[in-house]
Amino acid sequence: KTEKLLEILSGQPVIPVLRIDRIADAVPLTRALAKGGLPAVEITLRTPDALDAIRLVVDEVPEAIVGAGTILTGKDFAGAAVAGAQFIVSPGTTQELLDAATRSEVPFLPGAVTPSEVMAMRDEGYEILKFFPAEQAGGAAFLKSLASPLPSVRFCPTGGISPKNAADYLSLPNVVCIGGSWVAPDAELAAGNWQAVEELAREAAKLARR
Ligand code: 3PG
Repeated sequence: KTEKLLEILSGQPVIPVLRIDRIADAVPLTRALAKGGLPAVEITLRTPDALDAIRLVVDEVPEAIVGAGTILTGKDFAGAAVAGAQFIVSPGTTQELLDAATRSEVPFLPGAVTPSEVMAMRDEGYEILKFFPAEQAGGAAFLKSLASPLPSVRFCPTGGISPKNAADYLSLPNVVCIGGSWVAPDAELAAGNWQAVEELAREAAKLARR
């Protein structure tokens, strides 16, 4: 499972974090992102139709690699797995989520911030973690400081990342990829401007990693 997750996350520098308010946006949005070079996406369970959106994209956009995000409970985890999610992301971690992940074949990217949280996940066998909310929790400087005491752990930071600070994170040895919603702005979604989304994805896909 770790290998599968690493393969997905190391395939592109940026994972789009998506909030899908209108189910009709799901297919054109993920198609545009994939066309721009970002096939892997995280569809967050922050809207009522999120699971339907995941199902739809799995069925209709074969080039996409669909993850489910904002997974807070074991029930969310199971629902996302049934919907066809290929990886599952949570902002933090609970025992219930760890149990659900153990029962499932779907790779899990749990969230951790502090050294104690990171060490607890490491003990559970997770060495690829989400770092959220990245900017607010201390940003790239904080993350960099974790590399020395915890060199085996790598992160996908998200939260407050944009083209302005993306390079600060992507240059760190302990960053696999970054996540962010800036490639799918509300205004472009509302306008159905998929060309603009594709262009934002193309720019993000070009960001250099260490
Ligand atoms: C997430 O859940 O990863 C974040 O909400 C994404 O943060 P952003 O909207 O600041 O990019």
